[in-house]
Amino acid sequence: MLIKRASELTYADITPRGLYMGRRNFLLGLLAAGGAAAAWKKLPRLVSAAGTGSVPVKLNGVITGLKGPYTTDEKATSYNDATHYNNFYEFGTDKSDPAANATNFKASPWTVSVEGEVAKPRKFTMDEIMKLAPLEERIYRHRCVEAWSIVVPWIGYSFSALAKLAEPTSQARYVAFESYYDRRQMPWGAGSGIDLPYVEGLRLDEAMHPLTLLCVGMYGETLPNQDGAPVRMVIPWKYGFKSIKSIVKIRFVKKEPPTTWNIANAREYGFYSNVNPTVDHPRWSQAKERRLGEFLKRPTLMFNGYGEQVASLYAGMDLRKNY
Ligand code: MTE
Repeated sequence: MLIKRASELTYADITPRGLYMGRRNFLLGLLAAGGAAAAWKKLPRLVSAAGTGSVPVKLNGVITGLKGPYTTDEKATSYNDATHYNNFYEFGTDKSDPAANATNFKASPWTVSVEGEVAKPRKFTMDEIMKLAPLEERIYRHRCVEAWSIVVPWIGYSFSALAKLAEPTSQARYVAFESYYDRRQMPWGAGSGIDLPYVEGLRLDEAMHPLTLLCVGMYGETLPNQDGAPVRMVIPWKYGFKSIKSIVKIRFVKKEPPTTWNIANAREYGFYSNVNPTVDHPRWSQAKERRLGEFLKRPTLMFNGYGEQVASLYAGMDLRKNY
């Protein structure tokens, strides 16, 4: 196994998809692109620029084979299931919308601003984020509040690596995250029924927990647009909606920050949203889940099976009240 530290990686280490995906698919892609270009020439000039979407590319030098809580030995969900059935309301509200509508999303150039209660506020380019710590493949269970689940080989590193560089002050008690929102690239957002930009938050100790992943890839590649390119969070013991996509701002704050689904419906979605099979959603049970690609439902595990690592974060808290 060749291990290259992410700090030695540059975008030049990333192999363009066309060089390693099947030659046939690549040629088909060219053919389709040629057809699209021909059609484009015939279109009236209603739109100012052609789509310049981002396509996943292979990530080299990722540390694989981790053991312990960072990797479950459960079978990973197929790439197609994990990336074609999800939520990203900026691109529509159906589970198939993100994959269908995010193809032209432009995830580069990209910067993430880290600010608020920190000694060293700064903006990170994507190149800087890719090199900030060794990239690891972590195979996590991922449980959606709507009672489906997937197992995903994510790529990234603990969020704490980035946070420590900014040096949170003693005033910082929470971390607020904000997604990119551009009405032109995401016209579906306006009819999604939620306030955008999408915002999320974690208590500082949750954010600094080693399982909390700053994620830049999945299945050996950079993130596809529908999964939150170019950078997102993954918090495996919480319901999927805490895992905010396409992040542009990270703010360390004193008070519990507002979160999108809590703003939309506070009775149904709390700030903590830890996976908890004993606390039902007001409209459905959380006791079981359907793993995508499987027929029979399986029992949902407390903290999504990460209790040994994270239960102590909530010692003494009433998890019915703090849902
Ligand atoms: N992030 C943004 N910016 N917008 C969204 O609509 N949806 C959330 C979360 N992150 C969402 C988001 C919800 S409801 C879920 S279940 C997960 O993304 C699902 O996507 P995933 O399977 O790619 O994690």
